[in-house]
Amino acid sequence: MISKQQIDEIKYRNDIEDVISQYVNLKRAGSNTNGLCPFHSEKSPSFTVYKSSQSFYCFGCGAGGDVITFIMKAENLDYRDALEFLAKRAGITLIEDDRDRDQGMRRTRVLEMNREAARFFHNNLKNSPEALQYLSQRGLDGATIKHFGLGYATESFGALTDHMHKLGYTDEELKTAFLAGISQKSGRAYDYFRKRVIFPIINTSGEVIAFGGRIIDDTKPKYLNTSDTPAFKKSKNLFALNYAKNYCAEKMILCEGYMDVIALHAAGFQNAVATLGTALTPDQARLMKKYTKTVLISYDSDEAGQKAADRAFAILSEAGLETRILRMNGAKDPDEYIRKFGKVGFQKIIDGGLTRFDYKFAAILAENDISTTEGRVKAAALAVEEIARTSSTVERDIYIGQASQKLNVPGESIKRDVEKLISLRRRKVQREQHDKIVLDSQGYGDRVNPDKIKNLRANAAEETILGIMLKFPEYIGMVNKGEFELCEEDFVSEFSRRVFKALTEAGEDFDLGTLNSEFNESEMSRLVKMQIAREGLTVNPVLFKDSINTLREAKQHSELSIEDIINKKRKQSNT
Ligand code: UTP
Ligand code: MN
Repeated sequence: MISKQQIDEIKYRNDIEDVISQYVNLKRAGSNTNGLCPFHSEKSPSFTVYKSSQSFYCFGCGAGGDVITFIMKAENLDYRDALEFLAKRAGITLIEDDRDRDQGMRRTRVLEMNREAARFFHNNLKNSPEALQYLSQRGLDGATIKHFGLGYATESFGALTDHMHKLGYTDEELKTAFLAGISQKSGRAYDYFRKRVIFPIINTSGEVIAFGGRIIDDTKPKYLNTSDTPAFKKSKNLFALNYAKNYCAEKMILCEGYMDVIALHAAGFQNAVATLGTALTPDQARLMKKYTKTVLISYDSDEAGQKAADRAFAILSEAGLETRILRMNGAKDPDEYIRKFGKVGFQKIIDGGLTRFDYKFAAILAENDISTTEGRVKAAALAVEEIARTSSTVERDIYIGQASQKLNVPGESIKRDVEKLISLRRRKVQREQHDKIVLDSQGYGDRVNPDKIKNLRANAAEETILGIMLKFPEYIGMVNKGEFELCEEDFVSEFSRRVFKALTEAGEDFDLGTLNSEFNESEMSRLVKMQIAREGLTVNPVLFKDSINTLREAKQHSELSIEDIINKKRKQSNT
């Protein structure tokens, strides 16, 4: 593993404010700084960076940790890779203990394999007339093939596997990288992609992180994609973002398929990206938000495509992106649209992009017969629902005007209905939030510390004790020297025991950074929460001792366990 000394150095040379300010626009607030949380969508800042304790915490979503936790979350890396990332940033070379060097598949190893495989597939293409013919029949020229680094996986079960073996990669490694499967019968590796055109997926740092493969005949499945590996999470990446990022400051085009994106780029729309064989995720929406302001949803015109567009709308707006939908009239997808109507045709549908309301309202008008009173009433009610979803008042007024005119209903009455609906929805949200706060305060559904509810008083004392030890590590030293009577068994909850154990083992010069390997993200957040709750507190040994006494007492008068409560209730209802 990596020594504590090195972790200290990495953290020392990567000041948390410096690092986070490359991701978040931080504003000073006293001795701390705050900004909009990068881990959830919000409009007012609840994300705080604590310079003195070199930690961060978001009061909105509860994310928290130190600079290492931050990089793990922001760059989607595991502990080891986050350390490497930060080491590189500070110009430090990581020295690893030899024993651990080949343990686990490292991200860098997968990336090396991918690069090699991409080269292999690309070279194959030159000698595969069937694949070249397929691509040219789909309208791709040599320049496009080269630009996207397209390749071909032949029908062979062992071509890539053999090639990679020669370079020293093992079956196990090939499997982890998703380049090979292991045969159940023979136990041997076989090529995962066969008879497929290969689309390398390249991240914004230029690394080949995954592949998509399209079969060149009618065999199913049509596409195969790399599943998640140590170097790739499909829910957090987008196809062609490596190119699109330079052309999308204003607008980005979001498609469903690789071929759509390639056709668009080839026609000069280099701001197109696609998801990777799954529906759009909030993480992908936030990724887009880093690069653009407006997203043009350019999905297939069939029913499935339009349903997916609907969901994408919601996710993109939630992430704070302007959103327009492009209607592919007369073609099934952008690829076909470009082939039929050309670059000029596609530019026209970009210019005619619809807002969510335009799009929904068009559907409402198509589905209801507004020549009848009944139809008009129904259409108006549906329009009100849509308008109430819009947060901007100016936008709302425009839509109210449109609906009023088309449906021949006074704008005033539409407006009243919209406002009624908005306040109804707002009250519902407030009620839900209130209920949640009440339940949380009673300790229900605490996933980090499920034992909490069993003894709230003991738990509060435990959090004080651990919070002080986290905030003032000299107390860890005092505990270890036996200055207080306190041991693991004194704690009521399993989680507190684990924290106590980790802290006392780390000793007085403990640092949050070393806990990242032992505690998961939510647990790290909880540790920081306990720590910052003691921000600004002056602590003395008497207070600490008091908390220990409270814990003892609360433990003795231990409240009933959940099992006890349930059993008691059962008995009552049986008699
Ligand atoms: P489509 O079925 O719309 O494919 O799937 P397409 O892009 O039009 O493909 P061509 O033009 O027939 O070659 C859209 C996307 O959904 C994913 C792929 O990412 C594809 O690009 N997909 C589709 C899969 O992952 N697996 C499949 O079997 C099919
Ligand atoms: Mn297609």
